[in-house]
Amino acid sequence: NGAALYQQCQGCHQPNGAGIPGVFPPLAGHVPEILAAKGGRTWLIQLLLWGMSGEISVKGRNYNGVMPGYRQLSDAELAALLNHISTQWGNRLPPGQKPFTADEVKAQRAKTLTSAQVNQARKALGLR
Ligand code: HEM
Repeated sequence: NGAALYQQCQGCHQPNGAGIPGVFPPLAGHVPEILAAKGGRTWLIQLLLWGMSGEISVKGRNYNGVMPGYRQLSDAELAALLNHISTQWGNRLPPGQKPFTADEVKAQRAKTLTSAQVNQARKALGLR
């Protein structure tokens, strides 16, 4: 399930989702911002599949690291993980958004992006 799968993430993003300022971005209080952005939900699936590298800014702090992709996980596992990070640490799915499904992940898997392309695609979300 999602909580067990999150063990693969917590070494960087921490068990409480707070990340490490300036090194690993927070997921607590931040995943809902991604989901609320236009295109953010689809982009979040792509990030989990393909990872990301290059400079980003989260809540006014800069990061310039490498996030691995997790395409070795199944569609159902990635959906469970996405639902976990969307509902932990006070995070909630934005109003009107339903839980992630395996089919939704499957639809993105066909695309094959590089980690740099995921960073490029992030710019369109307008996150600050
Ligand atoms: C970025 C989730 C595993 C390092 C992110 C972001 C999310 C996320 C949602 C995007 C933040 C944003 O762009 O606003 C996850 C999940 C993981 C995972 C769910 C487990 C499946 C890891 C691991 C590492 C890591 C294991 C360290 C080896 C990073 C870094 C960034 C990032 C450095 C920023 C990348 C950049 O600067 O371009 N992660 N992550 N993540 N993650 Fe992870």
